[in-house]
Amino acid sequence: MADSDITDGKAISEDSSHVVSRDIRIFDTTLRDGEQSPGASMNLAEKLEVAQLLAEMGVDIIEAGFPIASPGDFEAVRQIAQTVRGSTICGLARCNDKDIDAAWEAVKHAPQARIHVFLATSAIHREFKLRMTPEEILERAIAGVKRAASYCDDIEFSPEDACRTEYDFLCRVVEAAIDAGATTVNIPDTVGYATPIEIYDRFKMLRDRVPNIDRAILSTHCHDDLGLAVANSLSAVAAGAGQIECTINGIGERAGNAALEEVVMAMKTRNDYYRCGTRIDSTRLVPASRLVCKTTGIHVQRNKAIVGKNAFAHESGIHQDGMLKERSTYEIMRPEEVGFSKTDLVLGKHSGRAALADRAKTLGFTLTSEQLQRVFEQFKILADKKKEIYDGDIIALVQHQIIGTVEEQWSLIDYEVRSGKDHHPSVKLTLKHGETEYSESVQQGDGPIDAAFWAVEKIVGIEFVCKDFRVRSATLGRDAIGEVNLEVEHEGKSYRGVGVSTDSVESTILAMLNAINRIIAEKASR
Ligand code: KIV
Ligand code: ZN
Repeated sequence: MADSDITDGKAISEDSSHVVSRDIRIFDTTLRDGEQSPGASMNLAEKLEVAQLLAEMGVDIIEAGFPIASPGDFEAVRQIAQTVRGSTICGLARCNDKDIDAAWEAVKHAPQARIHVFLATSAIHREFKLRMTPEEILERAIAGVKRAASYCDDIEFSPEDACRTEYDFLCRVVEAAIDAGATTVNIPDTVGYATPIEIYDRFKMLRDRVPNIDRAILSTHCHDDLGLAVANSLSAVAAGAGQIECTINGIGERAGNAALEEVVMAMKTRNDYYRCGTRIDSTRLVPASRLVCKTTGIHVQRNKAIVGKNAFAHESGIHQDGMLKERSTYEIMRPEEVGFSKTDLVLGKHSGRAALADRAKTLGFTLTSEQLQRVFEQFKILADKKKEIYDGDIIALVQHQIIGTVEEQWSLIDYEVRSGKDHHPSVKLTLKHGETEYSESVQQGDGPIDAAFWAVEKIVGIEFVCKDFRVRSATLGRDAIGEVNLEVEHEGKSYRGVGVSTDSVESTILAMLNAINRIIAEKASR
C-alpha cells in the first residue's frame, strides 16, 4: 500500500473533483462476534440466510463462525463455505493445531477461504489469562500462522487486545506474523478502550516501524464499550488500515462492534474526507438490518444512525419546511441510498400546514386551501391525541374530510357511553342542527355501537338499515386512528358514511352522521 494513497487523517480539498478512492475491505463478523451478543444466537437456516445477504450486498470477507466452538458452529461455517458465493469465507481459530485444523476443515470448500488465527498479546492477557512470557507468545503466534498457511494462502492474524499491547512488543509480533505468512494483520481494540487519536497513532506507528508491513493488509476491529467503535475504525482507516471488521447493527460481544452500515455510509458520504470506498451496495443496508433484527431478536433503537426508524424522519416544523425547500438543508444522505423507500416525514403537533399539504400531495391528494384548512383543523385535534401521525392517518383524515364531505346538517357535539358485561348499554348523545342542540339518552341495543345507532336515529328522525359496517385501523399501534366505513339503506337507496377517530364509538357516530347528511343532501337535490 503506497503512502500517497493514505489521507493521514486530514481533510483534503474542498474541490471533490480531486477525490481519489482507496478500496477498504469490509470484513463482516455478524455471524461470529455478532453472534456472541447475549441472546443473539441464530440457527443454521438463519445463518445461511444472513450470509447469503451479506454476500449479495458486497461484503468482502464473511467471518462465518468459530468452528471449534461447537458442532453447530462448525456445520454452519461448513455449509456457508459450500453454498455462499462472492465473498471470502473465514473461520476463526485460536493459536493451536486443533482449532486451526477445524477452521480449515470448515472453510476449505469455499472458492476463497480464509483462516483467522488469534492470540492475546497485551501484558494483562499474557500474565492473567495465558500465563505466558512474551517469547512464548511470539513462538506460538509464529507456529499458528505457519500451520494455517500450510492450508491456504489467505491468513489473518489478530494479536488480541492489541490496543493495550506495548508498542515494541506489538511491532515484534506483527513483523513475525507477516514473516510466517499472515496476509492480513488485524489490530483489535478488544475491550473498546482506545480513543480515535490513540488508534490513529497506533496504526501510524505500525506503518512507520514494522519493516515488512507493506506485505500485509492492516485491519481494524473495534468494540463499542465507550461508544467509539465507529469513530475508532474510521481513524484506523485514516491512518492506513485497509480492512474494517464490523457487524450489521453493530451487534457483538458486550456493547458490540463497529456497525457496518455506519462505517460504510461514513466513507461514502464523506468520501471527500476519507477518500475511501467499499464494494457494499448501500441500498441493501436497511434490508440487512431488518433481517438481522428478525433473526437475532435484537432490535435497533429508533434513532439508530442509518437504519433506525427515525434516521430520516424530520419532525420539527422548521426542519420539515427546510426539507421541502431543499432536502440537503437537513439531509446528508438520501433514504433511498440505504434502502428506505422514502423519507418518513412523521407529522406531529409541531408540523405546519405546508408539511401537511405536501404529504397529502405525495399521497395523491391535492387540497384546495379550504380543504386544507379543514383537514388541518382535524389534524391538530388528532395530533393532540396521538404523538405521531403517519401516512395511513393522513389518508384517513383526508378521505373523511374531502371524499366524505357533504354539507354538515347534523354534527356531533358530545356523547357519553356506558357499557359493561352485565349492564344494558346506554348512550347519551348531543347533536347539533343549525344553531340548535338536541340530546337523547338511550338504553337500548346489544352494545355501545348499537345503542349509538338508536340514539342517532331517535334524534335525527331518519330511519335506515345498516347494510355494511367495517372498522379499520389506519396505522399500527394502540393509539391508531380507527376508520369506520358504513353502508346504510334508506327508502331503497344505499348511502355510505365514513368517520375517523382514535375512539371507535366516535368514528361510528361520525360515520352515521356522514351517511345521514348524504341522505339529506340527496333528498334536497331531488
Ligand atoms: O475482539 C477481539 O479481539 C476479537 C478477536 C477474536 C479478533 O474478536
Ligand atoms: Zn471482537
